[in-house]
Amino acid sequence: MKKILVFIAIVSSLMFAKSEMETCKKCHPIIVEEFQNSMHKKSSFYDDEIHSAVWDKHPSKEKGDYSCAKCHAPHGKTEEEIKKGISCSTCHTIQNIEHHAQSNSNIYSKDPKTFFSAEKGRETQKVTYKQESSFFGMNKTTVGSPYHDIDYTNENFYTGQVCMGCHSHRQNSHEFTLCKIDEDGAKDKGQNCITCHMPKIDGSATTIRKSKNHSFHGFAGARHKPQMLSEYIELDFKKAASGFNIIVKNKAPHDLLTHPLRAIELRVNLTRDGKTTALKTNSFIKAIGHDGKPSMPWLANAIIVDTMIKANEKRVVDYNDTIHSGDKLEVQIGYYVVNPGALKQLNLDEKKELKKFTILKQKYFTVE
Ligand code: HEC
Ligand code: HEC
Ligand code: HEC
Ligand code: HEC
Ligand code: HEC
Repeated sequence: MKKILVFIAIVSSLMFAKSEMETCKKCHPIIVEEFQNSMHKKSSFYDDEIHSAVWDKHPSKEKGDYSCAKCHAPHGKTEEEIKKGISCSTCHTIQNIEHHAQSNSNIYSKDPKTFFSAEKGRETQKVTYKQESSFFGMNKTTVGSPYHDIDYTNENFYTGQVCMGCHSHRQNSHEFTLCKIDEDGAKDKGQNCITCHMPKIDGSATTIRKSKNHSFHGFAGARHKPQMLSEYIELDFKKAASGFNIIVKNKAPHDLLTHPLRAIELRVNLTRDGKTTALKTNSFIKAIGHDGKPSMPWLANAIIVDTMIKANEKRVVDYNDTIHSGDKLEVQIGYYVVNPGALKQLNLDEKKELKKFTILKQKYFTVE
């Protein structure tokens, strides 16, 4: 009885819910809370200061045409719609992906109350809500969601293709590719964008049908919860003829970082007889520009430098420093979200948190 009352309370409060997110929150509170801290929620120029800084410089801004909206705020171009960023229904109504040279497009389904999703063992099901009564309605078992129908048959939710409408690639007006994520990461049902960036973690997906796990909706990445991905980066040490090598293995099926604003650094500290010295720092970047110099993305027509660690690459980095038995090496790989060289140009040099170096993986080695 208590259950039924709670249920009635939920359903009636839905009628007064202000936003989509508040509605989903009634029955998917853990997922909504994670999502609110994600870069998908904060993807518009209202909530992402890096995106906003680049948009401020963009020639389309003066014309008032928010051309980034297609991916950064797909609900529309009014202030209210832009503030929504990417929402729950954005992804859960993506039926298909259309491939284009400039950037792909999401084909959204016309039915706003049927959500696509993926669940092992239910691949062939389309679930419409029903209540099965027995004992004059005293015992009710429910199947599905009282708020929406679910379609588990969309292949794109099992391979990661659902991510590729926005993430695959983007060209500027010079037909120059600004960023790209290989298709390889969105093919395999065993490991793909979803399994790495939305891992299964503790906590029920819904309050109504309890489950042990749910798929993380904070979307681990360079801006938010990067450490959740450190298991996909390996650091190793090897003695060499002169000096030593540090080996960085990127297990991701795409460049270790994909956005051209990022700068990765490999740092090594050597401790000998209680004294620590920092050895040479190696940087890995992919800088775009024109006339041999870095530029804003809309002016770029060439890759200026590309030392970025590639998909599945094992990068061997040489150090010529002599090492002795008993030496300790502290090895760190990490990054700046905005290359320190570009902060000033973007008027972001006052932002302390953007100057922070984030460590993705750290390991210690003792020389034998
Ligand atoms: C009144 C409660 C309720 C509300 C409100 C609600 N859902 Fe659900 N939802 C459920 C239940 C219950 C299930 C699990 C159904 C099952 O497993 O048979 C579910 C399942 C889902 C699934 C598929 C889960 C799977 O098993 O893969 C998605 C996606 C989803 N909901 C999205 C949303 C979104 C987005 C919103 C807000 C627009 C929302 N839901 C609002 C109750 C609700
Ligand atoms: C085709 C989809 C698409 C369009 C259109 C698009 N972006 Fe993006 N943008 C993305 C994706 C996906 C990411 C995250 C991927 C990454 O970091 O490599 C991103 C990330 C960014 C970032 C990094 C944000 C951060 O958190 O550090 C900036 C800055 C940015 N975009 C600027 C823009 C601007 C300005 C426009 C419009 C002129 C635009 N984008 C248009 C897809 C798009
Ligand atoms: C960027 C795309 C994206 C957005 C935005 C998104 N989801 Fe999901 N969601 C997915 C994918 C993909 C899956 C399938 C995950 C899997 O197979 O492990 C999923 C799974 C789910 C599930 C299934 C249960 C589970 O295992 O976690 C629910 C419920 C759900 N989403 C609700 C929501 C709600 C509520 C929101 C908004 C707060 C939301 N989603 C926003 C992509 C998204
Ligand atoms: C509607 C377009 C869209 C879809 C669909 C989409 N993304 Fe994104 N994604 C973006 C944009 C735009 C950004 C950059 C937001 C920003 O930083 O301003 C982003 C950022 C990210 C990031 C970086 C987060 C961080 O903290 O740096 C990850 C990881 C990510 N997306 C994974 C996914 C996965 C996995 C899927 C599929 C389940 C997906 N995205 C689907 C548009 C999309
Ligand atoms: C094997 C695990 C794995 C798979 C599969 C994977 N990624 Fe990643 N991804 C990573 C790692 C590791 C990083 C780098 C660490 C970080 O950003 O915190 C990363 C970073 C990212 C970023 C942030 C890049 C930036 O410069 O800000 C985006 C966006 C992203 N991945 C999207 C995707 C998409 C889309 C797919 C599917 C095509 C995908 N990833 C497949 C592991 C994976």
